[in-house]
Amino acid sequence: MTRYRIVVVTGNVNKKREIELILSDFGESFEVLTEPSLRKLEIQADQVEDIARAAIENIARVVKPRSSTYIVVEDDGLYIEALGGFPGPYSEYVYRTIGLRGVLKLLEDVDNRRAVFKSALGVYTPSGKIEVVCGEVSGYIARELRGSGGFGYDPIFVPDGYDVTFAEMSLEEKCRVSHRARAFRELGKLILSGSLA
Ligand code: IMP
Repeated sequence: MTRYRIVVVTGNVNKKREIELILSDFGESFEVLTEPSLRKLEIQADQVEDIARAAIENIARVVKPRSSTYIVVEDDGLYIEALGGFPGPYSEYVYRTIGLRGVLKLLEDVDNRRAVFKSALGVYTPSGKIEVVCGEVSGYIARELRGSGGFGYDPIFVPDGYDVTFAEMSLEEKCRVSHRARAFRELGKLILSGSLA
């Protein structure tokens, strides 16, 4: 059996832990490594797909394809319906500046709290091809911060079908339904089916 290496360009240990758990559904097929030293280029675009594609294209200019190894750049965004999709591609900036309380403030007195968390994976395959694989989860923005697990927007995002935030869930529960889980599970399936060589 081939064991594939998934090298994720990130320094975020929470993401690594989640990706390992998600891909453990495929038994021993994948080993997850992180590469925080490669630079993740962040272009300005409305969709995370376009940002992830530009980022992986940029990385592909400086690394060589290696057998059984996939290099992955993940870009995520929280698209809030009542705010016209904001913060979307600016999610990291908004998190660092106004923070979760600032986002809740923007939604004060707003009844429509629908939101979609999107994940786009820019993938550099062992044969040197570039692909983008996406996953998303719909849900809503809570009225206050809830829970202490996870990271980022987890304390305010409630996925559809639940009445708890990602931060109130166990890691296993979050990784059953999250945007990241959907994207990496799709990636795993594509690799094992041979359609992403
Ligand atoms: P990035 O593109 O992965 O850097 O993510 C953009 C923003 O979304 C950052 O502020 C992250 O903290 C946040 N984010 C990404 N994934 C998650 C998640 O699974 N839960 C909560 N916040 C997340």
